[in-house]
Amino acid sequence: MQNEFIQSKHKEFSELKKFIDSVKNSQGILMQTLQKAQDIFGYLPLEVQQFISDETNIPLADIYGVVTFYTQFTIEEKGKHKVGVCLGTACYVKGSQDVIDKLADELNIKVGQTTDDKMFTLEATRCLGCCGLAPVMTIDEDVYGNVDPKKVPEIIAKYKNQEV
Ligand code: FES
Repeated sequence: MQNEFIQSKHKEFSELKKFIDSVKNSQGILMQTLQKAQDIFGYLPLEVQQFISDETNIPLADIYGVVTFYTQFTIEEKGKHKVGVCLGTACYVKGSQDVIDKLADELNIKVGQTTDDKMFTLEATRCLGCCGLAPVMTIDEDVYGNVDPKKVPEIIAKYKNQEV
């Protein structure tokens, strides 16, 4: 009984199976496999966790525990662009909450969510190490400092317009 996700990702699952076969007898197989699976699929939905469980004989509950414990892993599909707003002390004091609120409003999602068109995921981050630029927001690898919430629509528009 295969669901739509499994049917549509046949190639990805066979790539993952090949990887699991190649590391089967090595140490730390679960972390390596989860990392590889996330590289292949972009995230780790339950179907992928179940597949890993079947192939490695590691109980699904253990896999789920690891996936939810480490922030590097994600169960939800992320948007094409990752929008982060620093909520470290310096940024918070300089009004990063207002930046988040404006982004949430502009994108019509809450922190941790992804827009319906899968273009943007909004996240709160810890100190990014550039507190002198507070409040700081990032989009993918781009860093924006001294962000004025009023400028948020303009910044977001640049990424929307990149899409053809
Ligand atoms: S507190 Fe935001 S960059 Fe340090």
